[in-house]
Amino acid sequence: MAAAGEPGLQGQEEAEAAVVVVGSCMTDLVSLTSRLPRTGETIHGHKFFIGFGGKGANQCVQAARLGAKTSMVCKVGKDSFGNDYIENLKQNDISTEFAYQTKDAATGTASIIVNNEGQNIIVIVAGANLLLNSEDLQKASSAISRAKVMICQLEVTPAASLEALTMAHSHGVKTLFNPAPALANLDPRFYTVSNVFCCNESEAEILTGLAVGSPEEAGKAALTLRDRGCRLVIVTLGADGCVMLAQTDSSPKHIPTERVTAVDTTGAGDSFVGALAFYLAHYPNLPLEDMLRRANAIAAVSVQAAGTQTSYPYRKDLPSHLF
Ligand SMILES: Nc1ncnc2c1ncn2[C@@H]1O[C@H](COP(=O)(O)OP(=O)(O)O)[C@@H](O)[C@H]1O
Ligand SMILES: *[C@@H]1O[C@H](CO)[C@@H](O)[C@H](O)[C@H]1NC(C)=O
Repeated sequence: MAAAGEPGLQGQEEAEAAVVVVGSCMTDLVSLTSRLPRTGETIHGHKFFIGFGGKGANQCVQAARLGAKTSMVCKVGKDSFGNDYIENLKQNDISTEFAYQTKDAATGTASIIVNNEGQNIIVIVAGANLLLNSEDLQKASSAISRAKVMICQLEVTPAASLEALTMAHSHGVKTLFNPAPALANLDPRFYTVSNVFCCNESEAEILTGLAVGSPEEAGKAALTLRDRGCRLVIVTLGADGCVMLAQTDSSPKHIPTERVTAVDTTGAGDSFVGALAFYLAHYPNLPLEDMLRRANAIAAVSVQAAGTQTSYPYRKDLPSHLF
């Protein structure tokens, strides 16, 4: 794939990933039922499907589909779900040089039951994701330190995420941290090694203890998060777009978006983060507000189709003004 048509990414640099994701891969096992089962009850569903998920891989897939050169640092099981996941990454043009397989745990799974009203119950078994360790990160250190942007979330151990962020940050790589799922007592070092700290409303609430239900409240939460040491805070607001607060901003800025009718919002935040990483890596001179407007537009496309990665748009299907 042409690396975003940028002359600077040809020749020798071609081998290096501009966006490196250190994070999770999960196999989604989805059953559709008319209602959710009660304790001890067996019910029949009307449809079953397997999907590729996990926040890390989702973000990597979205960045890759926009044309970023990507590499995924992750761990799956030495099992059929793991084999299929690695094949899925390859299908998306993602480097799997550091996609490890282990015999010591199963590939991460999310068992999901969805009823006719769209309500769900979910059990996540992170499995192999939790075995991604320091040794794995050391093996990937040259890719991490040569990246333009490195992304982490919290579906691998916090220790692995923090080590990866610290490694990238110390090499001057732009770090994009998505603290999801949120931890109430996040290690304060996460803030100081994050160039971009991007969370949604509920994560902002958990992290700050403040209520976040409007752009104004999101701005207040962003001020609190910036005080903890991040250079740039972004809070996504669903159909309301996002709020940003850069280091030198005197007040938060709301970046609204064109509201669309959502079919399936699963993974919208991951589409947004993946898109933002693509712009940070391949259009570093674009004003931040433009990057966020475009990331909003890409995430809006993802909510208009069913599924997670299946709903993520490719560059070829998007309007040229986004590139
Ligand atoms: N109905 C919608 N219309 C337009 N954009 C949307 C809509 N829902 C979500 N988005 C886009 O997706 C982004 C992420 O959505 P959000 O709900 O905040 O994340 P999460 O997936 O973490 O719940 C938003 O910032 C916005 O850009
Ligand atoms: C924010 O993301 C979490 C996953 O970390 C999800 O469970 C939650 O529903 C999201 N909240 C909003 C308001 O979208």
